Amino acid sequence: LNMFAADLDLWKNSTLNKIIQSGELRVGMEPGYMPFEMKDKKGNIIGYDVDMARKMAKDMGVKLTLVPTSWDGIIAGLITDKFDIIMSGMTITQERNLQINFANPYIVVGQTVMMDKKLADTIKTAKDLDKPEYTIVTKLGVTGEIATKKFFKKAKIVTFETEADAAAEVLNGKAAAMVYDQPYNVLFMSDKGKDKLVHLDTPLTYEPLGWAIRKGDPDFLNWLNNFLRQAQEDKVVGFSDELYQKWLVE
Ligand code: ARG
Repeated sequence: LNMFAADLDLWKNSTLNKIIQSGELRVGMEPGYMPFEMKDKKGNIIGYDVDMARKMAKDMGVKLTLVPTSWDGIIAGLITDKFDIIMSGMTITQERNLQINFANPYIVVGQTVMMDKKLADTIKTAKDLDKPEYTIVTKLGVTGEIATKKFFKKAKIVTFETEADAAAEVLNGKAAAMVYDQPYNVLFMSDKGKDKLVHLDTPLTYEPLGWAIRKGDPDFLNWLNNFLRQAQEDKVVGFSDELYQKWLVE
């Protein structure tokens, strides 16, 4: 093998080499963010990220193991090697990027607002909701929480463990609005929100989503970025368009 000792060492210790040696790709995700990872009626985890993970494992020639993980422990889980990669609709933020590395973005989303329909006559934009009499809900520890705190200085903010609990609060009329990733809101609107909610769908933020890996792992990062490029651009072996049609176009 024509490699320098240091490079060989790097490769030996790379996550990619460990995946190949063990024959298993372990993917950490928190099911609950439709359409990226969610449970079907039988309890199977399905979604855009799951299909992408399956394709990834296939191209590596290894088996796929999904590791369901709570959102608040997902970065720690990666760092402590509970899984090899996070594929969980995670926004690339500068703060997270200090702790972990991200492959190139695979999609761009933004935060939008789902509001109680009863307010539709008085409230036209997200800004109008920033009053002490309104409660805005979101999920704990996500970019939606950061955006909510930034945009709503006067409204009351309540956070929930899951996106489903937060959305239920608006649906039940206990909160005025919810701030969360646009793809989730679009699906929630067509699923349960139609008659009761309105979607203020102008994105408040710009959020590239990316797969996260541990720092200091250039071989894995290189593989992921080239895999992604091919999945997105190649019309024969690529299947990003297919996934987009399947999960993100109603
Ligand atoms: N994009 C948002 C963030 O990174 C929400 C992601 C939540 N993902 C999930 N699988 N529950 O904070």
